[in-house]
Amino acid sequence: MKPATTAPWEALTRAADASRNVHLRDMFAADAQRFSHLSTSWNGWLLDYSKQRVSTATMGLLHGLWQGADVPGWIVRMRAGEAINHTEGRAALHIALRHPASKGPLLHAGQDVMPGVHGELDKMQRFAAQIHGRHWRGATGEPITDIVNIGIGGSDLGPRMATQALAAFRHPDLRVHYVANLDGADLVTVLAGLQPRTTLFIIASKTFTTQETMQNAASARNWLVQALGEAAVARHFVAVSTNLAEVARFGIDPANAFAFWDWVGGRYSLWSVIGLPLALAVGCDNFRQLLAGAHAMDEHFFSAPVAENLPGLLALLEIWNTNFLGAESRAVLPYSQSLALLPRYLQQLEMESSGKQTDRQGMPLTCASGPVIWGEAGTNGQHAFYQLIHQGGRLLPCEFIVCKQPDFALPGHHEKLLANCFAQSEALMRGKTLAETTAELAASGMAADQVAMLAPYRSFPGNQPSTTLLLPRLDPFALGALLALYEHKVFVESVIWDINPFDQWGVEYGKQLASRLLPVIVGTASGEHLDSSTAGLVAACRGT
Ligand code: F6P
Repeated sequence: MKPATTAPWEALTRAADASRNVHLRDMFAADAQRFSHLSTSWNGWLLDYSKQRVSTATMGLLHGLWQGADVPGWIVRMRAGEAINHTEGRAALHIALRHPASKGPLLHAGQDVMPGVHGELDKMQRFAAQIHGRHWRGATGEPITDIVNIGIGGSDLGPRMATQALAAFRHPDLRVHYVANLDGADLVTVLAGLQPRTTLFIIASKTFTTQETMQNAASARNWLVQALGEAAVARHFVAVSTNLAEVARFGIDPANAFAFWDWVGGRYSLWSVIGLPLALAVGCDNFRQLLAGAHAMDEHFFSAPVAENLPGLLALLEIWNTNFLGAESRAVLPYSQSLALLPRYLQQLEMESSGKQTDRQGMPLTCASGPVIWGEAGTNGQHAFYQLIHQGGRLLPCEFIVCKQPDFALPGHHEKLLANCFAQSEALMRGKTLAETTAELAASGMAADQVAMLAPYRSFPGNQPSTTLLLPRLDPFALGALLALYEHKVFVESVIWDINPFDQWGVEYGKQLASRLLPVIVGTASGEHLDSSTAGLVAACRGT
């Protein structure tokens, strides 16, 4: 059913109209218990959404969307391995990748996937033990000191972000690098500091056909072969893919290939052997803790009532801001340097999943779907773009993520970080009225004409909505749970928006046009079919 025609949707539209003239500071003034009414906890985590522009009545209406769209029924379909990615005819069973072996089978097309999942995990663990134990030697007999993961999108962003997020847990003797960009500058700058004798490449690609990854892999192979000869490839290249035939064609020994399956979407693949560089960076015990955290969040998502369901609540708040208040983006603001890459990771997870125009019946969407995701680690963002959030006049919902304990304890830092994080959400909520600013400036002894001139510049509208997620600390278990939280948030939104979050045809179109343009750029095909702008750009590069 079209979401916008359901009864809760209509009631929410009326609630949004009624809320337009109510300021967040008035909502706090009217209800001393607002924080306890509009916050929830799980496993030592606190989700505070009291600074969102919602009332308990609005939340009640939003909860109606969960039942109305049958989120519980869709959870059952996902867990049963149904082909809920209907445009690609695939299941979306990433939850199986973190399902403990002791908890019994999970079926896909009538087959239990768990033996395969744990078989690959165990193979990965044996490989990591060889690298960490210095038993795996390069072609000259030296141990491996540097790992270079070559992949892009889901084959890069997850392990790259998690390797940084878990920097406090890093293996001391191994450096892990990431190369994604087709621009040779990426590979060249990473290789500049490395020795072929002690470097191992992981070629990570679900399809093993992605242009960027294949080009970087070929150039890395040349770099190695020039130094050590063709025979060295087997000791310096391993692969992670669903396409083992292509892996073999590249020249990688099948014994050194790690497999996953087409029911794992690229942006949901960190939990599979795509996590190999992360497992090498932080060790397999920590990788298994990451999986345990994700599984704990899965269990919470599957069983918690909507009012306490963290992924459900985040999804409903996103829908409220997007579809009822008209927000076009959400800023993700981790007050954690270790989570600095989280906004980039979520850009793929959320925008590739929710940037859709067609519903599950093949009809145009009648409501907006996924907003733009952007952000930066605090406090750096405060000195870059927060000005616009405070005084730019746009509705810009913010999501603060912060830990009670630091992952790198340096005296004097963490308390200030917490103070900045909470001060920002307070300032965004309260604002500062013209009267308050005028009084404050006058009290400072400023001349009256100066006060009158400056007060409009130095007052703030506030009423900017935000959510704060407070974690005890950032460790592998917490990170796993955090990422699974966002996966399920996206899933709930997709059910309510009635879209397929597991395909990405928009990305495919760009790839198709690039491969059609390449022969024109290298001069083996004519560009007469091109529009004048594209033809002009090509001609300018070719000097024709
Ligand atoms: O960006 C599009 C995409 O298909 C992603 O979904 C995927 O994560 C990425 O390309 C990389 O694909 P592959 O792992 O097959 O190289």
